Amino acid sequence: SVALLGIGRENLRIVPAGRDFRLIPAKLEKAIQADKASGKTPMAVVASAGTVNTGAIDPLPEIADIARQHNLWLHVDGAYGALAAIAAPDKFAGLELADSISLDPHKWLFQSLDCGCLLYRDASAAQRAFSHTGDYAKSLSSDPIEGFAFFEESIELSRRFRALKLWLSLRFHGIRAFRDVIRKNMELATRLGAAVANHPEFELLAPVELSAVCFRHRVGEPATDEELNRHNSAILKRLVERGRVYLSNTTVRGKFALRACIVNHRTTEADVDSVIPEVLAAAGARHDQTQP
Ligand SMILES: Cc1ncc(COP(=O)(O)O)c(C=O)c1O
Repeated sequence: SVALLGIGRENLRIVPAGRDFRLIPAKLEKAIQADKASGKTPMAVVASAGTVNTGAIDPLPEIADIARQHNLWLHVDGAYGALAAIAAPDKFAGLELADSISLDPHKWLFQSLDCGCLLYRDASAAQRAFSHTGDYAKSLSSDPIEGFAFFEESIELSRRFRALKLWLSLRFHGIRAFRDVIRKNMELATRLGAAVANHPEFELLAPVELSAVCFRHRVGEPATDEELNRHNSAILKRLVERGRVYLSNTTVRGKFALRACIVNHRTTEADVDSVIPEVLAAAGARHDQTQP
């Protein structure tokens, strides 16, 4: 985003996270102070409410405090995770302090691609930034519903009616159905995380905060991270070829991770319970292939 906005990648500060993968507020404060001391003007803080890799949720109240003290815009990236606030609000304390929040109903509200959503605390700030429409597209109505134009509050001009499918499914199923399924997805992730943690051949690489489970298969000890990375990368390739379970991959602190992310309303206990046997089968097949 900073590159697209013309702010420049060199002006992006990546603030370190702690062992729990959550941003460390004191490091944020330090980065802001350092930039100010060198004559730079910080403008915004972007926090995560559910990181892509591990689902970690940053300490939003502390971050919001710092942003407010320095008069910085606080955006929270909740594309994947923040929709879980309807099922587990306690995990998302401070989300309400954001100036803007991005959400992807095509992730954890089970919509088909694409359906992204940006919420502003103060819609007039969005209008000031984006309403540069030509006269030919100006809304003539001051009615808040009839006169509302998405293109006055975001970058896109011509756009299809993405909100329709979301509105329809919320009206048809009701919010409770979404809440229940998100809760179920989180329980399934906890179940898989526990199975991984209790299995002697597996290592859980990050706490299970929402519905992402990052883990790896271990080979005979001692194995270096490099060997384990190669081993797990080969497992994933084989696993996907087998076609029974789909996992994605990521790197967690230099460790290649198998990543299960449960965001489907049809996923069952049986599906989740098949992950470990499938990974073991893929590991075994790989092992067989490497035997003389
Ligand atoms: C945390 C997070 N932020 C941002 C994105 C990007 O969202 P999109 O692909 O809808 O632009 C994703 C996923 O793709 C994500 O998981």
